[in-house]
Amino acid sequence: MTVSGLEVRADALGVIWTDNSRTTYPTIWLRDNCPAGLHPQTHERLLDLLSLDPSPQLLSAEISGEHVRLIYADSHVSLMPLTLLAANQPGLPAIDPAAITPQLWHANLTPAGIPRFHADAVLADDSALRDWMVQTASYGLSIVDRLEDRHGAGVEVAQRVGFLRETNFGTTFEVISMPDPNNLAYTSVALPLHTDLPNQEVPPGFQFLHCIANESSGGGSVFADGFALAQDLRDEDPAAFQLLAEVPIPFRFHDQTADIRVRAPVITLDRSGELSEIRYNAHIAAIFDMPAEIMPDYYRAYRAYMTKTRDAAYRIEFKLAPGEMVVFDNRRILHGREAFDPSTGFRHLHGCYVDRGEFNSRLRLLAR
Ligand code: OGA
Ligand code: ZN
Repeated sequence: MTVSGLEVRADALGVIWTDNSRTTYPTIWLRDNCPAGLHPQTHERLLDLLSLDPSPQLLSAEISGEHVRLIYADSHVSLMPLTLLAANQPGLPAIDPAAITPQLWHANLTPAGIPRFHADAVLADDSALRDWMVQTASYGLSIVDRLEDRHGAGVEVAQRVGFLRETNFGTTFEVISMPDPNNLAYTSVALPLHTDLPNQEVPPGFQFLHCIANESSGGGSVFADGFALAQDLRDEDPAAFQLLAEVPIPFRFHDQTADIRVRAPVITLDRSGELSEIRYNAHIAAIFDMPAEIMPDYYRAYRAYMTKTRDAAYRIEFKLAPGEMVVFDNRRILHGREAFDPSTGFRHLHGCYVDRGEFNSRLRLLAR
């Protein structure tokens, strides 16, 4: 966007853009963001805000090439890049290549409709990596296939995205039926739809489950878009939605070495009321502690969300094959599995997590 006019007031600069829209930049903001106040290499702010007059006065502004040249009453001169002014307009969030609008899905996505990418491409080619990550952010779910048949092949794909998130289950984890399990995932029982580790202050972001073996009878995977369930509940039963978004419930995991608890709502909204996170895990939800007066209504709301997790209209079911890895936003997508019979064959998934912040950082670097 280019500029068609400037309006100088002592306390603000008005920029009129060629599309006739207008942006107001308070003078204190212009001084605070003067490029001369940044370290030349790190771009971190060196300027001490308190060293400025609390109400600096703007005297003049003129276009100078790709900049606006500003002169202040204390005779400071700023060269503000037009690109900086266009990209950072008070009242509008700055443009962010990682801000990808979730595309909500229902069962009619079908297993064949899940975005699918070849491991070799994602590993070798940044544009394939970016396509995969954009689709994974949009649907919350994707499959990477043709992984090498070895332990660690899935982790290497996850590390293309960013640093692994370590948890009390390790930096990576083996989903196998084991003796003396500390988690239902490490048995052969069915796992109803859930998100992992909602008992954490910040639950892990993206989850990677690399299928190494799936020879047992049973053991199929199931996924649902936790945002789609919540959005439909919001339309059908706004009071239930509101309770799930406003009333925190306790979540707890404890074993010999950890006792990790949090109180948080099932549905978290961002400041503009958009869905930002689902924490739903019926097996580690702890004992509800909301006031008795609202408890029956809360149970009705919670059961309404739970009922949707059982509804075929939301569920996608398929059995992972060796060499496939499912990747999903654990703070949005619900995942589960059917029971399997370990006496009929071996089942082994290798899992890890990468947090949303790392994921978004990689997306921004790839967009450069
Ligand atoms: C888990 C999990 C799914 C599976 O490990 O948290 O949900 O298919 N596993 O075993
Ligand atoms: Zn899980």
